[in-house]
Amino acid sequence: MKFFLDTADLAEIEEAASWGALAGVTTNPSLYARIGGKLEDFHAHIKRICDIVDGPVSAESVAMTRDEIIRDGLELAEIAPNVVVKIPTMVEGLAATRALADRGVAVNMTLCFSVPQALLAARAGARYVSPFIGRFDDISEDGLAQVENIVAALNNYDFTSSTVNGERIEVIAASVRSANHVTQAALMGADIATVPFGVLKKMVQHPLTDRGLDSFLKDWEKVQNA
Ligand code: G3P
Repeated sequence: MKFFLDTADLAEIEEAASWGALAGVTTNPSLYARIGGKLEDFHAHIKRICDIVDGPVSAESVAMTRDEIIRDGLELAEIAPNVVVKIPTMVEGLAATRALADRGVAVNMTLCFSVPQALLAARAGARYVSPFIGRFDDISEDGLAQVENIVAALNNYDFTSSTVNGERIEVIAASVRSANHVTQAALMGADIATVPFGVLKKMVQHPLTDRGLDSFLKDWEKVQNA
């Protein structure tokens, strides 16, 4: 499993990148609004993220018609070679995904909540599909079961003739709210988990690691004083 950071916060991205395990970043309009982002700075901000991270950086189009999404997508893809255009799962989004994939632009199809949506995203040429776990749980559905179903359904077929450069579509477990979500998504075979910085920090931690470290340090003090 690869780990993406789900944030638009440059300090978080720089810190997570320094840990050596960061493979990419996903942003969305809400995450950009959360850091006080301004419309006129959006492309420059995505460029700054791309300068920190070598891997894919998802930048979302908020357009609602296929022509506008395609225009947006082509502009976003110009920012840096590792930009991935994030597009909501909807009819206009699928049409735009097909057109962008045919022009060699990688798309992350987001707001995915069902197997049929994921299959359509794959057939339309999306490079990534992002099933949301937490938001599905929020409406008393089972977000993890949905990830499991999507991974299983996509594995039944070969979509490489539809995608950019014949690359396999990858499943990004998104809307991740806990380290356990990451564990379960990994066991289900999700390719990537995109996690908020708070969840990434929790992934490193374990109480037995803390306890073991504490006792090693105390015993080392004894060695030094012996
Ligand atoms: O990247 C989109 C997704 O991860 C959003 O998560 O927590 O706002 O549902 P959340």
